[in-house]
Amino acid sequence: MTLTDLGPNPLAQGLERLPVAPTNLVIFGATGDLARRKLLPAIYNLAHEGALPGHFNLIGVSRAQMSHDEYREMAAESIRAFSRTPPDENVLTGLLAELRYVSGSFDDLEAYRTLARALSELDTAAGEPMARAFYLSTAPEFFSVIVGALGESGLAQSEQVAVRAIIEKPFGTSLAEARELNAKVLSVFSEDQVFRIDHYLGKETVQNMMAFRFANGMFEPLWNRNYIAHVQITAAEDLGIGSRAGYYDHAGALRDLVENHMMQLLTLLCMEPPVTFAANDVRDEKVKVLHAIRTPRPEEIEQISVRAQYGPGVSGGEPVVGYLQEDGVPPDSHTESYAALRLEVDNWRWAGVPFYLRTGKRLARKVTEIAVTLRPVPHLAFEQDGSLGVRPNQLVMTIQPNEGVSLSLGAKIPGARMRIRPVNMEFLYGTAFISQSPEAYERLILDAMRGEATLFTRNDEVEAQWRICDPIVSAWEADARPLPQYAAGTPGPAEADTLMIDGHQWRAI
Ligand code: BG6
Repeated sequence: MTLTDLGPNPLAQGLERLPVAPTNLVIFGATGDLARRKLLPAIYNLAHEGALPGHFNLIGVSRAQMSHDEYREMAAESIRAFSRTPPDENVLTGLLAELRYVSGSFDDLEAYRTLARALSELDTAAGEPMARAFYLSTAPEFFSVIVGALGESGLAQSEQVAVRAIIEKPFGTSLAEARELNAKVLSVFSEDQVFRIDHYLGKETVQNMMAFRFANGMFEPLWNRNYIAHVQITAAEDLGIGSRAGYYDHAGALRDLVENHMMQLLTLLCMEPPVTFAANDVRDEKVKVLHAIRTPRPEEIEQISVRAQYGPGVSGGEPVVGYLQEDGVPPDSHTESYAALRLEVDNWRWAGVPFYLRTGKRLARKVTEIAVTLRPVPHLAFEQDGSLGVRPNQLVMTIQPNEGVSLSLGAKIPGARMRIRPVNMEFLYGTAFISQSPEAYERLILDAMRGEATLFTRNDEVEAQWRICDPIVSAWEADARPLPQYAAGTPGPAEADTLMIDGHQWRAI
């Protein structure tokens, strides 16, 4: 397809200026939920913003038997249903005009031969060899199979063009599996061809953590154990597990969110300033943070972790069932829908600062935030009487919703007396920038096609994340006691308070 004739879009907000080589993007798992809800709409929005290369083609691969036209119809419907902007039918038609579909089992080399033929026909039609990006958005058990088949069929390497593999999460379900998958992937591709997705890195607010820390001189002098008392990272969701019991009941909150998204937030918060924002400079600094977190010892797991399951309750004003009553969840399931941890980063900058992490489904509201609490002032010369008190300053980076950053300060209450109460200085994306942020997947798909890996996790990062989480998963799996419960729609289990040391308290959800 040629997108140049669609003309530059006046609404384009910068993504379009980045050079992207002509690319054939192949989506494995093309009829799955992720492809339909996220990937196809993201690609449409890139097309709409004029961010795709002049020559760009999409090929869907999946097991379902379907014609090109049937898949085109499915893709158009998905985009109409899930795009963040109402689709412009001209752009949509242009994007899908040359869409191909290859049906076949992921271990069937014949399907890869069909794919190879399609790729070469598209190159011929474009009059030039085009870069290839293989997006693996299938169930995780097929990642190795597909990588192996791409290698065997000769599609993984090319002398002429860049070939890249984009791999969805979860990247393994344990350290051993992550290592095995890395070994397989790196026997076929080189690390600089591999783009492991953690969609949190595609969020504007997550990238802003780096801008905030490294574009403002005022934070760096305070960003250490001398001034920071503790840090809380919260990823709370109000929704339950919906129809995902098949996946979720084998994963649980720790594997689903802590091992990847929350660990990434922690690394961005704690990393040393990178020399440049080139992929390996940033990832070298991030992985050092993970290396500074000790592997939890079996005997300390009870003190540093809490898990729980939601019981029946009220969410959004409606009565909702508990985790064990959700469709597809075994009534005796021991899978946690809530996980909280206390970790330490043992290096010169952070030693002794507790990092509290918590995540859960069916909590009181959806909020993802990082709250950095500074040490209290050393001496209070103010009257307490009638004052709301001097509280330690707190810097809160809200990843979602209400994206922004706020800093709490003590201020004088107007009047004859010296009474203090906390006030907030706030920056909100919604008011500071008029433009709508792109979806995380838009940025990530574009970056992968550009070969820009800063926002993707490297093999050593993924393995270090698993090294930290693995002993906790194993201890929980071996523990047959009933899980603490929290009512759906509440801030979570009371047991999470036991993680708090030095009088610290969880922020209200
Ligand atoms: C996914 C998890 O990785 O992230 C889901 O599998 C979770 O369980 C989702 O709901 C949260 O993402 P977001 O972008 O809505 O915060």
